[in-house]
Amino acid sequence: MTVKDFLDTNDFTKDQLLDMIELSRVLKRCVKAGYYPELLKHKTLGMIFQQVSTRTRLSFEGAMADLGGTGQFYAPGTIQLGGHETIEDSARVMSRLLDVLEARVDRHEDLVELAKYATIPVINGMSDYNHPTQEMGDLLTMIEHLPEGKRIENCKMVFVGDATQVCVSEMFITSKMGMTFVQYGPEGHQIREDLLEIGRKNCEVSGGSVSVTDNREEAMKDADFVYTDVWYGLYDKELSKDERMAIFYPTYQVTEELMAMAAPDAKFMHCLPASRGEEVTDAVIDGSQSICWDEAENRKHSIRGLLAYFCKQAETDQTEAGEAHDQLNYLLEGLGKQAIK
Ligand code: CP
Repeated sequence: MTVKDFLDTNDFTKDQLLDMIELSRVLKRCVKAGYYPELLKHKTLGMIFQQVSTRTRLSFEGAMADLGGTGQFYAPGTIQLGGHETIEDSARVMSRLLDVLEARVDRHEDLVELAKYATIPVINGMSDYNHPTQEMGDLLTMIEHLPEGKRIENCKMVFVGDATQVCVSEMFITSKMGMTFVQYGPEGHQIREDLLEIGRKNCEVSGGSVSVTDNREEAMKDADFVYTDVWYGLYDKELSKDERMAIFYPTYQVTEELMAMAAPDAKFMHCLPASRGEEVTDAVIDGSQSICWDEAENRKHSIRGLLAYFCKQAETDQTEAGEAHDQLNYLLEGLGKQAIK
């Protein structure tokens, strides 16, 4: 089934998500080889940001330019979205003026409303619920840094710290891939049961597992990827520095000692921005096991793939099942040849 928007990775099958990753990888090879295929020439991306951003904004704008298109940045508070004009009307107007829309919103339900009334693809640039473009960049990064002899579905991720939307998102994508996911966090800051249930449903299909624990040894044992995020709490109840240090520090800080409890060649990941000295030490984030800078770069490579995937899909008359997949394979084949020539 064709899904117009990229709001939640749970709307897609594992194979569809891996198709998007494959397209991202081929486009990454193209760009690294100096070839910039103008797949989105004369297309315009609108970028709504209700919150500040470095990685997401730079990645969307740069990726669109790489593919021959243009990105328009709307800073927090600069366009109508549910104030004087309803979200429904804004969606209709933006669909007439743009070809694709990215939105980072305070409330996930606003994004759902926007996508419902927009006739162009809408891509979630992060909400209070999830961060799916982060998930895709992280999946690409893990695939590029697989432990020797392991497939993605045989890997374990431990997420250390607070149950932020990034933590929940990592649980979504790892369970989709059939990985083992464990959140190591204190009671009161663990992933909600209703969200874990979504991960368990993914695992019924993929064969992975999801769990939460405050047991350090159990969490870290055999972990291939150690992930953390800031301890700021969620949008509606942000923690002060004193509150977060009292809850998480030092138990849930990723230190060299904690990394030593994971698999010997474990990698450290962080969605960034980091609060150095809080959730992670300088020694870990700057150390040899850290892949968080590759992870930041892969935001752009994966977003380039998503933009191509959803814009090309929107151009196609989706009357026959499988057509999008066939077109994608055709695109991949052509790009692959260009990238390696
Ligand atoms: N990781 C991430 O989304 O970073 P920005 O908030 O800078 O976009």
